[in-house]
Amino acid sequence: MASDKKLIIANWKMNLDMHEASLYLHKLSKMVKVHRDTEVVLAPTSLTLQSLSLQVNLKQFKLAAQNFYWRDSGTYTGEISATQLRGVVQYALVGHSERRHIFNESDKDVRNKVAAAIRNNIRPVLCIGETAWEHANNETKDVIHDQLAGGLANITGEELEKVVIAYEPVWAISAGLGSTPVSVSLDDVKLAFNAVRNQIKHLYGQKASESIQVLYGGSVTGDSVADYLSLPGVNGLLVGWASLNANTFNEILEKAHKSALADKKE
Ligand code: PGA
Repeated sequence: MASDKKLIIANWKMNLDMHEASLYLHKLSKMVKVHRDTEVVLAPTSLTLQSLSLQVNLKQFKLAAQNFYWRDSGTYTGEISATQLRGVVQYALVGHSERRHIFNESDKDVRNKVAAAIRNNIRPVLCIGETAWEHANNETKDVIHDQLAGGLANITGEELEKVVIAYEPVWAISAGLGSTPVSVSLDDVKLAFNAVRNQIKHLYGQKASESIQVLYGGSVTGDSVADYLSLPGVNGLLVGWASLNANTFNEILEKAHKSALADKKE
């Protein structure tokens, strides 16, 4: 089975400048308790990655890129490659719904990025999830099927061991900004996670479907951490706006640790 280590990723999106990010890291590193059962990853803007990589204690936190271009080098003005991120980050988000929907990233882009991350020794976090319309039309399973098949095409079973999947219903992402966070029903999450693991089983076999790390994301707050992490097969969380404050994020980390402890007792 997948390890009971919880993987918690803070996706800061286009927030926090270099100064704010450095202060945040300083503050969080003072209060965070390192637990062997929790892996904490910070995904700041590309601009901030380099300086945070010099400041970060990798025993406390790993770093993730939010995006990169899939070619290793060349005439691609404005882009950063996974080759250039190698050694700076340990993880990279790939195919986040904001990249798919605002920047028109296709499944082909996504699959090229998954492969580029792996060949540069970076763990890709392949983000998938259905829109509100697809959800209302009961297309969640189909979307999961297509996005996994598209994003993982050409990835071998051995390479899959480096891949993390993040299931994020698009309609729940950032849905809590400025109001009450949307909470996705646990039944919806269960259904989606079953679909993810079934598709991995179909593509790579039973063992791979049990061992792959799958995260949940979409308006996660301190109040919902325990509920989502208590579901079978939910190995961690991708947290957006609730990760922008170091105190709030630290509370999420403590709750994730408690969930990991509870798993061990079972
Ligand atoms: P949210 O973002 O927690 O603000 O909904 C999650 C994400 O986009 O990864």
